[in-house]
Amino acid sequence: MSNFMIAPSILSADFAKLGEEVDNVLKSGADIVHFDVMDNHYVPNLTIGPLVCEALRKHGVTAPIDVHLMVKPVDRIIPDFAAAGATYITFHPEASEHIDRTLGLIRDSGCKSGLVFNPATPLDHLKYVMDKVDMILLMSVNPGFGGQKFIMGVLDKLREAKALIKASGRDIRLEIDGGVKVDNIKQIAEAGADTFVAGSAIFNAGKPTDPQRYNTVVKAMRDELAKAK
Ligand code: DX5
Ligand code: ZN
Repeated sequence: MSNFMIAPSILSADFAKLGEEVDNVLKSGADIVHFDVMDNHYVPNLTIGPLVCEALRKHGVTAPIDVHLMVKPVDRIIPDFAAAGATYITFHPEASEHIDRTLGLIRDSGCKSGLVFNPATPLDHLKYVMDKVDMILLMSVNPGFGGQKFIMGVLDKLREAKALIKASGRDIRLEIDGGVKVDNIKQIAEAGADTFVAGSAIFNAGKPTDPQRYNTVVKAMRDELAKAK
């Protein structure tokens, strides 16, 4: 099951030493950098933009960067993130007036595209665009903050999304975001997720003085994933 990807959300990293934090978490075996973009408009918080994405690339980060846009409007900022080195760009359907156009814009900019579904948002928006998404991201918390509790009802939604992907016959990643921990990751994988965002569970793990702390938690997640049926 090496197809599982662990995506640390840098929202919970120490921003004063972000390059080092990203290097360390990737060295610990994480696969992909989850990059949360919040605009204090679509969500009630404000974080980081294309300049920081570009800075990570200049710092030498070569792993995929998974840009999760929690901004409205969406389209204006997409070319900036593509130029800044984003690999995936995902957005919330509620934040775009023209979902098909936005998905096209992401791919035309050279990035992989995806739609993000809030806990109460149905998957209906996928119906006519399955051929235009590389990733489906299900939120298991309401977007805006790290450190919230996993909403259990999303497990059924994962099964539903997994079935849609299977029926499409396409190579689409199924990502989960919010409240993912060592003690629930196996259950989440069994519901169909293959890409696991984890912010506080990784960056707040162990003692800050322990240089092995990211290794320990990423390995614990992998061990749990290896048990998933
Ligand atoms: C929430 C963000 C998440 C967040 C997850 O709006 O999209 O990526 O960082 O944080 P944890 O893993 O702490 O729930
Ligand atoms: Zn996110």
